[in-house]
Amino acid sequence: MLLKGALTSISLAIAAVTTVIAVPVRLSLEARQKSDSNGTNGLTDLVTWDTHTLKVNGERLFLFSGEFHYYRLPSPGLWTDIMQKFKALDYNGVSFYFFWGYHSPKRGVYDFTGIRDIQKAFDAAADSGIHVITRAGPYINSELDCGGFPSWLQNMQSPARKYNPENKEASHEWLTEIDKYMTANQITKGGPVILNQIENEFSYNTDAEYMEMLKAKFRDDGMVVPTIFNDVGPNGNFATGPGAPDIYGWDNYPAGFDCSNPLAWPNDRSTDWRDFHERTNGEQPMAVYEFQGGAFDPWGGPGYPECYKMVNEQYAKVYYKNNYAQGIRIQNLYMTYGGTSWGGLPKPSVYTSYDYGAAITEPGLMTTKAYENKLQAAFLHTVKPFLTTKYFKPESDRSDIILIDGLADVNTPTKFYVAQHWSTKSEELDEFHIKIETTNGNFEIPRSSKLILNGRDAKILTTDYDFNSQHLVYSTSEIFTHQDAGSHDVIIVYAYEKEEGEFAIKVKDDTKVKVETNDDSVKSETNDGILQLTYTHPNGTSPIYISGGAEKDLLVLVAGYQSALRWWAPYLNEKEGKRALINGPYLVRSAAVSKDDKSTVAFTGDIDETTDIQVVLPDGIKAITWNGEKVQLEEKDKHGIYTGTLEFKKPDIKYTDLTKATWKYKAGSPETDPKFDDSKWITADHLSTNSTTPHDAGPILYADDYGFHTGCLWFRGTFNGSSEITGFDLTAHSGAASAWVAYLNGEYLGGFDVGNHAFTDLNDTLINREGENVISLLLWTTGHEDDFKADDDYKQARGFTKAELLGVTNQTTWPIVWKVQGNFGGEDLADPVRGPYNEGGLYGERNGWHLPGFPDNDWEDAKIPESKERTGVSWYRTTFDVNIPDGYDAPMSLRYVDDTKSRYRTLLYVNGWNLGRYANDLGPQTQYYLPKGILNTQGENTLAIGVVAIDEAAQLGQVILEPYDVLQSAIPSVELVDSPGYDKRQQ
Ligand SMILES: *[C@@H]1O[C@H](CO)[C@@H](O)[C@H](O)[C@H]1NC(C)=O
Ligand SMILES: *[C@@H]1O[C@H](CO)[C@@H](O)[C@H](O)[C@H]1NC(C)=O
Repeated sequence: MLLKGALTSISLAIAAVTTVIAVPVRLSLEARQKSDSNGTNGLTDLVTWDTHTLKVNGERLFLFSGEFHYYRLPSPGLWTDIMQKFKALDYNGVSFYFFWGYHSPKRGVYDFTGIRDIQKAFDAAADSGIHVITRAGPYINSELDCGGFPSWLQNMQSPARKYNPENKEASHEWLTEIDKYMTANQITKGGPVILNQIENEFSYNTDAEYMEMLKAKFRDDGMVVPTIFNDVGPNGNFATGPGAPDIYGWDNYPAGFDCSNPLAWPNDRSTDWRDFHERTNGEQPMAVYEFQGGAFDPWGGPGYPECYKMVNEQYAKVYYKNNYAQGIRIQNLYMTYGGTSWGGLPKPSVYTSYDYGAAITEPGLMTTKAYENKLQAAFLHTVKPFLTTKYFKPESDRSDIILIDGLADVNTPTKFYVAQHWSTKSEELDEFHIKIETTNGNFEIPRSSKLILNGRDAKILTTDYDFNSQHLVYSTSEIFTHQDAGSHDVIIVYAYEKEEGEFAIKVKDDTKVKVETNDDSVKSETNDGILQLTYTHPNGTSPIYISGGAEKDLLVLVAGYQSALRWWAPYLNEKEGKRALINGPYLVRSAAVSKDDKSTVAFTGDIDETTDIQVVLPDGIKAITWNGEKVQLEEKDKHGIYTGTLEFKKPDIKYTDLTKATWKYKAGSPETDPKFDDSKWITADHLSTNSTTPHDAGPILYADDYGFHTGCLWFRGTFNGSSEITGFDLTAHSGAASAWVAYLNGEYLGGFDVGNHAFTDLNDTLINREGENVISLLLWTTGHEDDFKADDDYKQARGFTKAELLGVTNQTTWPIVWKVQGNFGGEDLADPVRGPYNEGGLYGERNGWHLPGFPDNDWEDAKIPESKERTGVSWYRTTFDVNIPDGYDAPMSLRYVDDTKSRYRTLLYVNGWNLGRYANDLGPQTQYYLPKGILNTQGENTLAIGVVAIDEAAQLGQVILEPYDVLQSAIPSVELVDSPGYDKRQQ
């Protein structure tokens, strides 16, 4: 990607790159697994580093990476869509966490097929030209069930995240499987993997021997890319010594995770990283392997729009630019696409959506923050001297309120000034000046205009910078990118609308310079070999054409911020840094010079409305196409700026109106009936457990101990009545937002949050004093805890710690015989395609009521919203059609509308996939994403909703099917995910 010197013939350069993205030759898995380290340290020399940056294939780069989780988008076809969006936003990296539990329902059983085919995730990144950071754990945290551990690890006696034989065996089992894919996709095999993380935020209860064990395993399996480690903060854990990686780094979430007061940023940011880095690992690039790109939100939380507001584009400006000022040159934004914690993926505290308020929303839509990230990333990839800087302290007139960090390139005279308010959340608009020393003289800038720093803004100013055939003396506008367009150069600079800007370049001869523009605000002055432009940033983009200054003319495009957000610079040839420039569209995925017609650039992308565009084309290019169709262009200013219009053609999108659909209803909790046959259920008779949860006397009532790990659980206890019994004392143990419902002999006793409840008012009509009684307990679980502090917290039980009869004086033998039931098959999955987190233990789930093709013709007809109060568990089924024509992207959703806060929970099954847990009493999530691929967007779909009443009865509210947005789109084709129906169910 190193920019070469000026090209004499642009059309020649472009002609050489008719294939935009080199698709790596795919060797077989086996062929790629052969070890091939070249370096003396056992590492490949294709990825190296120094104090400044990584070098990949010998080229320095700022690694601008974003976090993406394939398991949070269960539709491999869409992985390509998201990776294209990363590339469009100028990201050059993606970080993948691999989720052990997602691939392993049972010890020794691994699945990498279908939605678990991670080769497709590597390919999606590689095909888009995105480098990959692999993070295989084994522990990954990530707001996932068990923090990514498989559920079966619950039953391990030894501590996880520690060196011991039992844990070593388990970790090795996983790494042996995942390493096959990671090694085969390393850069040395033509793949995208350039860095590999050991463990994850292992900063409490640490164990260097365990770290060494993991390192050795990666090495023995053939990982030859540098290892990294993300300390939970800049604390020095594993920075050096045993367990240390090749490139140490840390994580940072300065805004925290409470989105309920989104504008209350902390008043400060990290200003000590530079010193810490120099002290700690100065010979390595400064890396933040997770930097806050949004925030997760808990059950009952304020919702993701608030998290977005907290971590918005202003946050991106202030905090990310502070990172660069500190010296960060490897930055991974967690999350960049959050996606969906479908089924039983999430840990208890968080709900289904993992939108995260990230740059790309859960349904894959663009945000202002995404565009802001693009502005930053394009700058970082364009302006190379930024990659090799040293800090210096600049002089400014407002150092009392404005923090300015100076960064001087060690190879050229180029210097950068990163300006931000000392108080990060300052809303003040402040004017300031900076003293700069350049090879063209020393100045206080701006010289004849105003330089403004808005509240919650940060700016990177560039001085003394050679680009293309030009020499920039300074600019108070920020640089997006610049290009050699053949006969002239182009640079795009920006600031907020109405702010003044000053842009100065060196000229050969003061008398020969000519400035052309239609923008009245532009003033130019040439003195002592420097042309200085002053202007006001417009609402739009103003071209200023300078001729006679340098070897080549220069087109300066001055953009106001809103306009700058919609400038795109897709690569024509990444290696040579050749980009096309286009303004206007919602999303530009790619640009390529047409194979057949070298005078045409083919753009692909998405629009959300009829869009006026500006295109800046290099010499020799006269035409463009948009998604294959020719666009009528007009050359406005004869300097290679063309305008045109992309017509949004309203699509004929059709989908069933669910409020008018016919539904089928069936009651779904026969387990409450004392006569229900549970003879095939497992008897809960263990007397000891490996769980960390203490328990009272009696058999262990922890579902995990009996192989049931996901979703709803049933416990049925049978006991003989007696005159002594006065009640029960029960304590449920499960995570946040869990609930339980108790029945005695078919009668509802109550629904509760987890914790203790004593039933002391049982009357003789409820209890059978002479014969057998059955107590049925339904536990709505929300997954397992994670293990953030490496103290085995993930082993907290799901079940009951106490289940006693009250009033019984002589309990020599345990009076209640307990049976336990969870998902059908337990660890031997009934549905390996949808996997271990899809279904739980409701009767309907165990019997395939959620699956397409289940024969529901003998079910009762129903309408939604439900008109009747339904006790216990209720199931509703219907089918619906969606028709989204090719060439459009209309991400669909299902939304519940119920203004009551009555306590019920639902499971949303679309084509058999559990796409959402809804809690009518908690919120905040009411809208659920139905990803294309799981959703058939050109045909029929099956919808099944399981409703669990926590109150005595529930009445499901409205259910609405609707798109989030409609885009005319170049979304890649998405194959339907194999969704086996009821006929394929293993019974
Ligand atoms: C607890 O751990 C021990 C030792 O690994 C094992 O033998 C036992 O089966 C485990 N208990 C359960 C309930 O899995
Ligand atoms: C820019 O102009 C558009 C259309 O005239 C207007 O809707 C928008 O509010 C303006 N933006 C600013 C920042 O002035």
